[in-house]
Amino acid sequence: MRKIILDVDTGTDDAIAIMCAIQSPRLEVVGICTVNGNRGITYTTENTCRLLEYLGREEIPVYKGCALPMVSTLPAWRRPEIPYGGKEFKAQEVHGDWLDLPPSKNKKPEAMDAVSWYIKTLSETKEKITLVPVGPLTNLAIALRAKPEIVENIEEIVIMGGAYAHGNITAAAEFNWWCDPEAAKIVMDCGAKITIVPLDATHKALVSGSEADEIEKGGTKACIAAADFIKRRIRGYAVFQPVGDDMTPVHDALAVLYLLDEGVCEDVHEMYVDVDCGHGASDGMSIVDVDHRYEDKAPNCRFAFSANREKFVKLLTEVLKAR
Ligand code: RIB
Ligand code: CA
Repeated sequence: MRKIILDVDTGTDDAIAIMCAIQSPRLEVVGICTVNGNRGITYTTENTCRLLEYLGREEIPVYKGCALPMVSTLPAWRRPEIPYGGKEFKAQEVHGDWLDLPPSKNKKPEAMDAVSWYIKTLSETKEKITLVPVGPLTNLAIALRAKPEIVENIEEIVIMGGAYAHGNITAAAEFNWWCDPEAAKIVMDCGAKITIVPLDATHKALVSGSEADEIEKGGTKACIAAADFIKRRIRGYAVFQPVGDDMTPVHDALAVLYLLDEGVCEDVHEMYVDVDCGHGASDGMSIVDVDHRYEDKAPNCRFAFSANREKFVKLLTEVLKAR
């Protein structure tokens, strides 16, 4: 079994990614770190706990992470603990403040914070661990700054974030990297083996409403919740970022499914990728060196420019009903 740590800003697509990881008999989820992102840290942490309790997987530890980015000043509507409410932010439709599951009664985050836990776990582990951060990269970046040697015990970092030809929060930037550009840059330059699953890939791996119906027929708790979240996302995307009739990306799930079958991502190339931290119009933008203009920079990641939609939907449907 491949040991993994998830780092999430749960969120409907984070929730589906968590379920894919937990349901797979080939992955062992050592722990889940939470971070500010889709919502403030109180929301993303409770959403993660309520999902684990719903699935009956309370034994998986949750570590509450950073409530703010390392440096960036987020606009008021992006600051933690301010629910969006009303129609101020259309992505409200995609996630909601709380996941549509019963509030957690027993499952609570551990006493240790996410950054300290990363450092402890990656210092003490006898076996290398794969990290799958699918929210802003704040927790991992701070851990790497505090104790750079932990990189030696990282098997691979599979990141949902960044984009070559897309922007989903500004015209230039993908949301996770825009939330904390400095953190993204620190992680990109840390020297670990890195695979990037960006918007270019996740926007190829779309799921339809009728495919959500098929997922629901799988009958497990994970299937039922995932189908519901996909349908919510379809309604939300139709309002805020139309991607095709009755379709939605499920970004974070693609990063987890990549661990089960690398063929789910396509057009994957070794690349040097930088992050704009200039705090201007292109803040958080991925600078993807497709034409090898940085002669002095070796590739720092494998970047997936596309994905195989059929494989993605098949794998998603299979893994959610696996156990
Ligand atoms: O840009 C997509 C990413 O932003 C996903 O991880 C989504 O959950 C949000 O965090
Ligand atoms: Ca996410």
